[in-house]
Amino acid sequence: MTEPVNVADYFERAAAAVEPKVWCYFEGGAGDEITMRANVGAYRRWQLRPRMLVDVAGASAATTVLGAPVSMPLLVAPFAMQRLLHPDGEVATARAAAAAGTVMCVSTITSSAHDEIAEAGGSAPRWLQLYVLRDRQRTLDHIAEARECGYSAIALTVDVPVLGRRERDLRLGFDIPPNLPLPYVKGKDPNVPMTFAEQFQMSPSVTWRDLEWIASESGMPVILKGILTREDAALAVEHGADAIIVSNHGGRQLDGVAASLDALPEVVEAVGGACEVYVDGGIRRGTDVLKALALGARAALTARAIASGLAVGGEAGVLDVLTMLRDEIELGLALLGCTSTDEVTRSHIEATVPYDPVA
Ligand SMILES: Cc1cc2nc3c(=O)[nH]c(=O)nc-3n(C[C@H](O)[C@H](O)[C@H](O)COP(=O)(O)O)c2cc1C
Repeated sequence: MTEPVNVADYFERAAAAVEPKVWCYFEGGAGDEITMRANVGAYRRWQLRPRMLVDVAGASAATTVLGAPVSMPLLVAPFAMQRLLHPDGEVATARAAAAAGTVMCVSTITSSAHDEIAEAGGSAPRWLQLYVLRDRQRTLDHIAEARECGYSAIALTVDVPVLGRRERDLRLGFDIPPNLPLPYVKGKDPNVPMTFAEQFQMSPSVTWRDLEWIASESGMPVILKGILTREDAALAVEHGADAIIVSNHGGRQLDGVAASLDALPEVVEAVGGACEVYVDGGIRRGTDVLKALALGARAALTARAIASGLAVGGEAGVLDVLTMLRDEIELGLALLGCTSTDEVTRSHIEATVPYDPVA
C-alpha cells in the first residue's frame, strides 16, 4: 500500500487496522445514521467562488480562537477512550496537536489523566470537554483538576442529556474493556461491572442555569457544544456563553437532525457576532473548513479524522492528518484568492444549483 495522501486514505487504513468490534464505536452514529451521512454530504452541496488576480504570496491559515493563536482554523474535537485505538491514546493526540499548533479539546471520557495530557501537550492550548455527572462534587473536582493542569476553557456538551442509541455497537457487541482507565467517569470501584450507559454517570438534568454555575466555578470561558437552532443560540448569548460549537455530535445522538453545516448559518445569524461560532461534523478536507468559514464559522473541529490518524499511526498518524488538513486549507485559501482566514466571506460560497437536464 502507498502512503496515505488524504484523510480518506486514513479512514480506509484505520478500518483495516482496528478490530471491527472497536472501530464500530468510532465510526458509527445513531439510528439509521441519516444525520451522520448528512454531515459529510452537506459539504458537497456548497461550492466555492474563487477570486482571481489577487496577490496570495504568503497565504497563511493561522488564526485565533478565544484569543489563543492557532496555526489553522481546525481544532481537535473531543472524543472518548482514545486508548482503544492506540496505547498512547490522548497523550499521542496531545503531542500531535501541540506539534501542529492547534487546540486539543479533551473528553470527560478520556482514558488518560489530565496531568499526563498536559505534560504531553506542553504550552499548547487545551480545552476540557465537560459532561456534568450526577455526582456534582465529582464534576467540581474534575473542573478543578483541569484548571490545575492549565486547561484554558470548558466546552460544555449540551446534546447528551441521555446517550444516543448506536446500533452498530449493539450489533457488534461493543463493550468498554473493564481494564480501560476512565479516570473522570468510571464508578469508584473499577471491579464492579457496569453497562455502557451506567459507566457514564451523566446527569440528564443539566439546564441553562448550570451554565452560570460552571462559569463561576471554573473561572474559565465556557463554550457550548451541540447547539443546532437559532433559539438556543440566542439563549446561549443571553446566558453569557463565550463561544458555540454548532454540532450534532457527529450524528451520534438524535438521528434526523440537520447536518451541522446546514444549521451553521442560522446560528451565526442569531449570534450576530456576540461570540465566536465553531462547527464540527463531517470535516474530511481543507476545503470543507473553508466552506464552514465562508458560512460564518471562526473555526471547525474534527474527531473521526483524528481517530483514524491515531489508529493508523499514533502520534505520527495524528500529526500527519493535521498537517495534511492544514496544507489543504492553505492551498485552498490561496486558490480562493485569500491570504488569511479573515478574508473568507459569504461571497466565497454559493449553494450548488441542482443539475436540470430539461432547463
Ligand atoms: C468515537 C467518538 C467519541 C466521541 N466522544 C465525545 C465525547 O466524549 N464528548 C463530546 O462532547 N463529543 C464526543 N464526540 C463527538 C465529537 O466531539 C464531534 O462532535 C463529532 O464527532 C464531529 O464529527 P466528526 O467525527 O465527523 O468530525 C465523539 C465522537 C466520536 C466519533
